Amino acid sequence: MNELFLKLKIINALAGIVLKGKNVGDFILGKSVRIFERALAEYAGSKYAFGVASGTDALILSLKACGIGPGDEVIVPAVGFYSSAGAVSWVNAKPVFVDVSPKDHNIDVLKIEKAISPKTKAIIIVHLNGRMADMDEILRIAEKRSLKVIVDASHAIGSRYREKPIGNFGDLICLSLNPTKTLGGCGDGGVILANDEALAQKISRLRIYGASRWIEVYWNNAIVGTASRLGTLEAAVLNEKLPYLDSFINRQRENYFIYKEILGNIKDLEWPEEYQDYFINGYRLPILTKRRDDLINYLSNKGEKLYNMYPVPLPYLPVFKNLGYKEGDFKVAEKIAGECKNYIVRICFPMSSVINDIPYKMSVLV
Ligand SMILES: Cc1ncc(COP(=O)(O)O)c(C=O)c1O
Repeated sequence: MNELFLKLKIINALAGIVLKGKNVGDFILGKSVRIFERALAEYAGSKYAFGVASGTDALILSLKACGIGPGDEVIVPAVGFYSSAGAVSWVNAKPVFVDVSPKDHNIDVLKIEKAISPKTKAIIIVHLNGRMADMDEILRIAEKRSLKVIVDASHAIGSRYREKPIGNFGDLICLSLNPTKTLGGCGDGGVILANDEALAQKISRLRIYGASRWIEVYWNNAIVGTASRLGTLEAAVLNEKLPYLDSFINRQRENYFIYKEILGNIKDLEWPEEYQDYFINGYRLPILTKRRDDLINYLSNKGEKLYNMYPVPLPYLPVFKNLGYKEGDFKVAEKIAGECKNYIVRICFPMSSVINDIPYKMSVLV
């Protein structure tokens, strides 16, 4: 895909909305949002998709739709972005952290059951760095203990588990569509995927003042809702990008494996293992090494940057201090926070369809 061509298509789509739009319905939950929701649901293998204002709102609304609130506990992995745990506190429930597994940096499935109490209502799963979690086992535990599974798939659009895409796994599946993501727009945005009709109906009301449609917002507010929609202009950008997503992911994956091959020559590096059941989208390559500074220097001399994405395990963030966790409670999360640097395989650039150029990488790294 020619990047300039894509940008012109985006500008053309945006101009069409600005020039033709007359009524509120052309701008809020407009046609481009409906088109995007249908296309994304199909791509991700879910029945429904609802565009919301951000990935964080997707999580908050999902917790609300599952009826989670004060007095409830929700299990959350100890490594990840703030929002996966912050959303739980935002609805006045309590996040209960579980350590992650060294094999994939996702929640350690073997430690989930121990963390379940009579107050537990749900498990939040994060497909970290684009590698899906072991969903068969997680869904088995959730079913046995009657828990909802809310998935934060913000890193994992296009990834698959046992050949099925993200929309197949979990009660509600949340994605951020901000510009740092594999499918990102020109600003904030998020989406919730659902398969259950009752949950879908709740989500559709939660995002629009508790009413089911725009024309009912003045008289048919059936539940307590908020205003959280994917913008119509944002959806128009995403609609232009979606048809190229698979070819974009293919290149992202190529880069991921090329980095691994090249860095494989350096001793003392560790990264998640590859398994046949998991098709990764190549969003990020997390690298663990005790010689982190050496690696950073080595790569920065070649014009490459590494990022420490999660330098503090989530339970130790200042905002969660009151939960009483202490050093040593999450050994793998601590190791990852201490040693991990993420190789961001794509350039995070709004509207860009360009990812790091492979021949260029080869020449600077080898
Ligand atoms: C895994 C994960 N979940 C949630 C979010 C929050 O998404 P947003 O910035 O769209 O609110 C992010 C943000 O980057 C993220 O990486």
